[in-house]
Amino acid sequence: MKDKTVVITGATSGLGRATALQLAQKGASVVIIARSNTKANEAIKEIKKEGGKAQCIISDLSSMQDTKEAAESITKVVDRLDVLINNAGAYFPKYRKTSEGFESTLALNYLSPFLFTHHLIEKMEQIASEHGEARIINISSIMHKRPINWDDLNYKETTYNSSSAYEQSKHLLTSFTYYLSRKLKETGITVNCIHPGFVKTALAQSDFPFPMNVIVPIVGLLIGETPEQAADTPVWLASSNEVKGINGEYVHHRKVKESWPPTRDENAQTRLYNVTQSMLGEWL
Ligand SMILES: NC(=O)c1ccc[n+]([C@@H]2O[C@H](COP(=O)([O-])OP(=O)(O)OC[C@H]3O[C@@H](n4cnc5c(N)ncnc54)[C@H](OP(=O)(O)O)[C@@H]3O)[C@@H](O)[C@H]2O)c1
Repeated sequence: MKDKTVVITGATSGLGRATALQLAQKGASVVIIARSNTKANEAIKEIKKEGGKAQCIISDLSSMQDTKEAAESITKVVDRLDVLINNAGAYFPKYRKTSEGFESTLALNYLSPFLFTHHLIEKMEQIASEHGEARIINISSIMHKRPINWDDLNYKETTYNSSSAYEQSKHLLTSFTYYLSRKLKETGITVNCIHPGFVKTALAQSDFPFPMNVIVPIVGLLIGETPEQAADTPVWLASSNEVKGINGEYVHHRKVKESWPPTRDENAQTRLYNVTQSMLGEWL
């Protein structure tokens, strides 16, 4: 990864932090997008202590304006962008609306990675044409098996359910991954998503409703991995030569898996892309 630049969101804790550190240890120059200055500086300090290179851009990614500005800043501070990892995400136990009018799970887990990627594609196309490739990696989840509520993606009228909102957001991110991989096929940019498994992070300790509040701790005990262990797959997808042919895939533990069939419906992916563009109109 020497001479390569990786941009990663949500690298102040959990999976993102471990992934950023491991990629920096491989020689990548890492740009962390974080909402907290203090936490970003801690993560950077850790990377530098290990001899790595890192810098940060402060941004609240649940805001589309912030997301757009963060992407614009990146295009100014880095010469090249080889790998983009859309990792930031959260589980919101209670309904929360952003100041821009979006339900928070939708905003942070789906709209923001869509918009962020949109504004970075040109930079990545440049590197792909000069160096043969660039990689986009979206952190999805096995919890993506929820139909899309086409009539009310944004929970304007539907009663909020935290698990449905989280699962829908990961369905959307997975569908977007497939759509974008086809769209960018000729550019040399690959687009894949990952189910990282159960990772023992702050997110895994969210205030889940019943029965998840019972199931999640048990699953954690049985198959939970540390962020350092779970970072293996995102680091591999970001850095290995073995993955050059992998594009438009859902990956778990270094293996290509089949995501839930509705996420693979190409008509639905196109519809989603168009709907999302309408929602994000003013920030595109
Ligand atoms: N843990 C699991 O078992 C699991 C399973 C499947 C998928 N995932 C996915 O893995 C990804 C990483 O999650 P994690 O488990 O590592 O959780 P985590 O430790 O809670 O990390 C989430 C990261 O996202 C950042 N973030 C949250 N809201 C943000 C905002 N508004 N603006 C900017 N950054 C924000 C957090 O920043 P702060 O440090 O400031 O909070 C943190 O760095 C998520 O997309 C999650 O959905 C996790």
